[in-house]
Amino acid sequence: MPSAAASFVTEMAMAHVPVLTKELVELLDVQPDSRVVDCTFGAGGHAAAVAAKLSPSGVLVACDQDPVAEDYYMDLRPSLRCRSRFYLGNFADSLSELLEKGFRATHVYMDLGLSSMQIDTPDRGFSYSYDAPLDMRMDPEGPVTAADMVNTWSEAALADLFGRYGEERYARRIARAIVAQRSSRPYERTAELVDTVKRAIPTPARFGAGNPAKRVFQALRIEVNDELNSLQRALPAAFDLLDPGGILLVIGFHSLEDRIVKHFFVSKVRPCTCPPRFPICVCGKKPTGELVTSKAVTPSPAELTSNPRSSSAKLRALRRL
Ligand SMILES: C[S@@+](CC[C@H](N)C(=O)[O-])C[C@H]1O[C@@H](n2cnc3c(N)ncnc32)[C@H](O)[C@@H]1O
Repeated sequence: MPSAAASFVTEMAMAHVPVLTKELVELLDVQPDSRVVDCTFGAGGHAAAVAAKLSPSGVLVACDQDPVAEDYYMDLRPSLRCRSRFYLGNFADSLSELLEKGFRATHVYMDLGLSSMQIDTPDRGFSYSYDAPLDMRMDPEGPVTAADMVNTWSEAALADLFGRYGEERYARRIARAIVAQRSSRPYERTAELVDTVKRAIPTPARFGAGNPAKRVFQALRIEVNDELNSLQRALPAAFDLLDPGGILLVIGFHSLEDRIVKHFFVSKVRPCTCPPRFPICVCGKKPTGELVTSKAVTPSPAELTSNPRSSSAKLRALRRL
């Protein structure tokens, strides 16, 4: 008979298929008494795989800003042998709170972006494939929705956002079309925005790869959830939380996230701030981390076939010295 934890993993697989799980478990090499922080619990797929290695003297701290994730945690909890606790809120704040409380971890990991439950729940407004309220908040109490942004931001600010966070080629045309459209009727639904994007871009671009609104939706989602700032705030707190020898692991899904992670890791591995022309280091800054992954780990061909949503995943890990 399968264990309760195994049944949980099977059940959750229908909700969200965690990416790079085998690689994450191998690289973390969690021990029975490890103290592990999962910053992005989601449906708990990674957490269940990691917690299976923990004994009653181990600890799992689970964080997520989406209350739906807390429901998943409550489902998993009875099957856990280790001690555990859930923090609802932005992981940057939860990590700072843990630090202040004096908690120290052997492992901290983040699996960034959205869960399948968020994308596939039409009412959340994350998907351009369903007509729904234009919301996109991971934290349903968050201060700003995507509708607020498209209805109030200036044309220049929207164009800049779509260009920077969506790498959208037609950012300016789309921003102009949004501003023209909203003067007669404010945006309320995802389908209205998809329609504007389709009408704003040149006809051939409407029939390219994927939905033409994909990049605009990505840009809005990143901004609505303040994703890049949260990551930037969270990484130092996550690193400070680690015991010497502890591991920080991050799975990201787009180049903006990956750049922040790489930059942070390099700042720990090569902290020297001396000008390149100096023959020797005089700043005296010593490395405080070493790379566990010399380059990003990406999904295997088998995983790409079984879970196409994993296609852009990149995993990087750093050990604290
Ligand atoms: C890709 S899913 C994680 C899936 C999870 N690893 C699993 O195995 O089911 C990302 C999760 O991180 C959460 N999240 C993203 N950014 C967050 C942040 N700044 N603070 C807290 N949770 C965040 C989302 O709400 C979502 O549930």
